[in-house]
Amino acid sequence: MAELASIPTVHRDAIAEVLIEPERLQTRVTELAAEVDADYAGRDVLLVGVLKGAFLVMADLTRQLQVDSQVDFMACSSYGSSTSSSGVVRILKDLDTNIEGRHVLLVEDIVDSGLTLDYLVRNLRARHPASLEVLALLSKPDPARERPDIRYHGFEIPDVFVVGYGLDYAERYRNLPYIATLRPEVYEHQR
Ligand code: PRP
Repeated sequence: MAELASIPTVHRDAIAEVLIEPERLQTRVTELAAEVDADYAGRDVLLVGVLKGAFLVMADLTRQLQVDSQVDFMACSSYGSSTSSSGVVRILKDLDTNIEGRHVLLVEDIVDSGLTLDYLVRNLRARHPASLEVLALLSKPDPARERPDIRYHGFEIPDVFVVGYGLDYAERYRNLPYIATLRPEVYEHQR
């Protein structure tokens, strides 16, 4: 368990287990930034963050990059329960940028069922970028499903619901500096 001091007071009773500590997150993001730098050397890259979950990995990643980069964001909603998605995706906020001919790196916080990523990759490809790659901080194993390739991959996590470092439950816990699971009582209180 992380030091209590690093858990915002209001969340202290809610955390069950810390799966990825802040130091491991930062180290991995630094490694991913180095890979992106090596691959995009001499090119201009547009990072597209998927709101809201990707806001922290975007912030940390972009501050580590040495290559010429710009940022843009999309927001989409997938209908479903608060802990799983249904695959019906709707764009809530589109890009400000025309990506035709651009080198685009789509940045996701988590690939769970993969349905959001699948939708976004198809949608962005149809806009004819020069290249399109995906960075996902977290993913869950799902051998049954064919997913778009994730070129830059942070961590594979077990099939459990996680919060922190951008990820929420009912819009809370995004500000936790680590990836954690919640105690079952937290879900019961929401019902
Ligand atoms: C989460 C996450 C991914 C998506 C992954 O977003 O940020 O975009 O779900 O799920 P999938 O692989 O099963 O499609 P969410 O819809 O919870 O929105 P948020 O980022 O604003 O919390």
